[in-house]
Order: sequence, then C-alpha cells, then structure tokens
Amino acid sequence: MDQLFPDRSDTVDLAAAYAYPPTHRSWLRASMIGSVDGAATVRGTSGALGGDADRAVLRMLRALTQCVVVGIGTARAEGYGPVQLRPDQLAARRASGLGAAPPPIAVVTGSADIDPDLELFTGAESPTVVLTTEAAPAERRAALARRADLVVVGEERVDLAAAVAALAERGHRRLLCEGGPGLLAQVVVAGLLDELCMTLSPVLAAGDAGRILGGPAFDPPVRLRLAHALQDDGFLLLRYVPARDER
Ligand SMILES: NC(=O)c1ccc[n+]([C@@H]2O[C@H](COP(=O)([O-])OP(=O)(O)OC[C@H]3O[C@@H](n4cnc5c(N)ncnc54)[C@H](OP(=O)(O)O)[C@@H]3O)[C@@H](O)[C@H]2O)c1
Repeated sequence: MDQLFPDRSDTVDLAAAYAYPPTHRSWLRASMIGSVDGAATVRGTSGALGGDADRAVLRMLRALTQCVVVGIGTARAEGYGPVQLRPDQLAARRASGLGAAPPPIAVVTGSADIDPDLELFTGAESPTVVLTTEAAPAERRAALARRADLVVVGEERVDLAAAVAALAERGHRRLLCEGGPGLLAQVVVAGLLDELCMTLSPVLAAGDAGRILGGPAFDPPVRLRLAHALQDDGFLLLRYVPARDER
C-alpha cells in the first residue's frame, strides 16, 4: 500500500493513518465503498466491490472503533453478525487504548423489525444495541430488549444526535458508521459526520445500483476536504473530512 497524499510514501501505518483524533467528544467516522462509476452495490451488496486493501482498512477501522453503527437495511442485506476481532486487530485495539472486548454493533431502525434470534443478538460478546423509536411496536421492542441493549431515541424516527449521545453515555465515542446510504445521508443532514473513509473500487458496475448516499439531493452539495489518499492494487482509499472546519 502506498500513500499518495498528503505526502508520498511507499509504506503506510494503518493504525496511525486511521487513529481517532484526541478529542473527548463523540467522533463519527463513516466507511463506504463505491465503484468508479458510483455504484454502492453489485447484486445487492457491497462485497463484490471489495478487495484485500479495502478489507485491511475495514478491519483496522473496526479495531479502532468503540461501536459500529449501521442501518437495519444494511444489517439485513449484508447479513451482519457480531464483530469478531482477529489477533492483529486486538493488538491495534490495545495499542489505541481500548479494551479487548469487540465493539458492539448498534442497529438503527424505526420499525424494530429484526429477529431477536439472529446471531447478531444471540452471539454478541458486546451486546448489540438497537436504536429505535417510540413508534416501533411494543411487542417487538420487548422481544429485542431481552437480547439487546434497546434504546428509544425518537418518536417516529431515530433522532441521530440523541442516538450519538446515548452511545456516548455508554462510553462509545469513537463511532464507525458502516452505512447504508439511507442512514449516512441522514447523518450528514444532521451535521454529525466527522469523517468519511471512502474506498474507490477499480470496477465499473453500470446498472441501477444506488450510490453511497441516498435520499433527497443536498442543495448546495456538502463540500469535503481530502485528508489522505492511499492506493493499493488499483483501489483508492480516501479519507475526507467536512470542509466546514480543519479536522
Ligand atoms: N457500498 C457500501 O459501502 C455500502 C455500505 C452499506 C450498505 N450498502 C448497501 O446499501 C443497501 C442498503 O441501503 P439502505 O439505505 O436501505 O440501508 P440502511 O441505511 O442501512 O437502512 C435503512 C433503514 O435504516 C433505518 N433508518 C435509517 N435512518 C433512520 C432513522 N433516522 N430513524 C429510524 N430508522 C432509520 C430504517 O429502517 P426501518 O425501516 O426499520 O425504519 C431504514 O429503512 C444494501 O444493498 C447494502 O448492501 C453499501
């Protein structure tokens, strides 16, 4: 892997490149992948867009986070289970000051329409968090509450700022949002995005796949500043921060 920007280097220390900043407030990093022509999925998931470099970065991002936040659409489509850390991830995690327990997954869902018997809940060493609403049917919430840390943060829709605050109360401030496009667009609208780790996958996908953000157009578009660019085997691993400040 090489670093192309800000400085050129033919070696990259991923733990240093993706270290969370030394801040006491919550920091929400998103991680997404897209094809050169903008597709976020191939045959309904992002798997076919990935490669070794992208997977190495994703493993590092998961090693360094205190909680993986994901929309229910992605948890379903990609068959999410609990995070399992490999020895290299554990070492990076310890070096960054975190404990050995894997980060929990926090699922964002207005409907709470997810099976509590999934491995995501039954196999989680760090209990899965469900961020949901008062409008979710009470029986679904009750069933999930037996298997998960159920948090009601909003009436009809999950209030994402309140969700981030609820995670912070649990000690989870270094957040990694793995999408999907529906959730990520709302994160941006809510002004909660601190960083976007975007992998540009060297493929063309065509078809009608969505992009890494969905929903209504941003007008004006949200400007980003490139913080670093890595490359490996044709993949570009880009780290952007909002241009609103100099993070
Ligand atoms: N290329 C990539 O990097 C990447 C990454 C992730 C996912 N994906 C792909 O994206 C697709 C899924 O996209 P998606 O946009 O449908 O998934 P998503 O954003 O993961 O999930 C959307 C769902 O999340 C819930 N949600 C989101 N924001 C909410 C809020 N503020 N309040 C309440 N609920 C909220 C809603 O669930 P309820 O219906 O329960 O209310 C909504 O239907 C999959 O094909 C996946 O493979 C690609």
